[in-house]
Amino acid sequence: MRWAPRDADPVATFARVPTECLAPPRDPASALSVEVGRAAFRTPVLLGGQAGRAGLTCETCHKAGRGNPSFLFPGVSGPPGTADVTDSLFSSHRGDGIDNPKPIPDLSAAKAKLKIAQAPAEHRLEPFIHGLITEEFDGPEPSKAVLAGLADYVRALNTAACPAAATEPVTVGYYLADARRALQAAKGEVAAGDAPTAILMIASARSRLGLIDERFAGPALSAERRQVRAADRRLAQAQDALRARHPDVPAALDAWLRDSRGLEARLAAKAPASLFDPRRLTQAARRRLPG
Ligand code: HEC
Repeated sequence: MRWAPRDADPVATFARVPTECLAPPRDPASALSVEVGRAAFRTPVLLGGQAGRAGLTCETCHKAGRGNPSFLFPGVSGPPGTADVTDSLFSSHRGDGIDNPKPIPDLSAAKAKLKIAQAPAEHRLEPFIHGLITEEFDGPEPSKAVLAGLADYVRALNTAACPAAATEPVTVGYYLADARRALQAAKGEVAAGDAPTAILMIASARSRLGLIDERFAGPALSAERRQVRAADRRLAQAQDALRARHPDVPAALDAWLRDSRGLEARLAAKAPASLFDPRRLTQAARRRLPG
């Protein structure tokens, strides 16, 4: 809410998201790469720096890989829906001292409409994304698999794959589905022996739990928040186990994935009392204090 105009329609802006236009490749290795990119796109840990600390992800600006007409970040946006990605607030490398916000592009637009050529042979997309992460957003050097994954994810965004509905509701299930996909990608990277990438994938799942947690605000939902945080702790332990080269991480992730079904049912049952409920969300948006 802090990154949207005060008069933004709460339901359209926070209770619904655009649908994702993703055409996943068939062969398993490319499909895994796209899923790695999809998860990396959805965690602030990728960006690090000021942007990461603020909780910004690629997906904050490119919602579901698309645009974000209500994005308004003080000092970074001009009119809503724009961002100056050469702004010194985020970047110690690229801050150009010039205020030049640009509209946030829909990455699933027709490829011909986009500025950066995506054909692998042109070698433009990976360097562009690398520059975004390490210079524009001051993030740490991404692993090879993460950089390739992000480029493959952007390439797999495709207007032709847009679902019939333009938007969908934000629910507990929506975020947990993302978390599960990130953990499947983590398992794929564990199998490939790439622990750093697997750790980032788990971070992405944890970021999605964070978005659930913030909508379960308030004393009446403390029991549910405890469950979300317990689920998060298990994922933090899986990250530690990967760092310590424990062999049993895939089994721990499988157990988490199984248990996430029960967690989803319990949280969904309480969702009407949370900020997943459009009416409560609207009331909360109205209560926002200046500043
Ligand atoms: C603060 C908002 C913001 C964030 C965060 C952000 N972007 Fe962007 N992105 C933009 C804007 C604005 C442009 C258009 C820049 C221009 O026109 O010069 C853009 C352009 C792009 C393009 C080029 C589109 C084209 O026309 O070819 C790609 C690809 C892209 N972003 C991917 C990413 C990825 C991957 C991340 C995460 C590492 C990311 N973006 C994070 C705002 C953002």
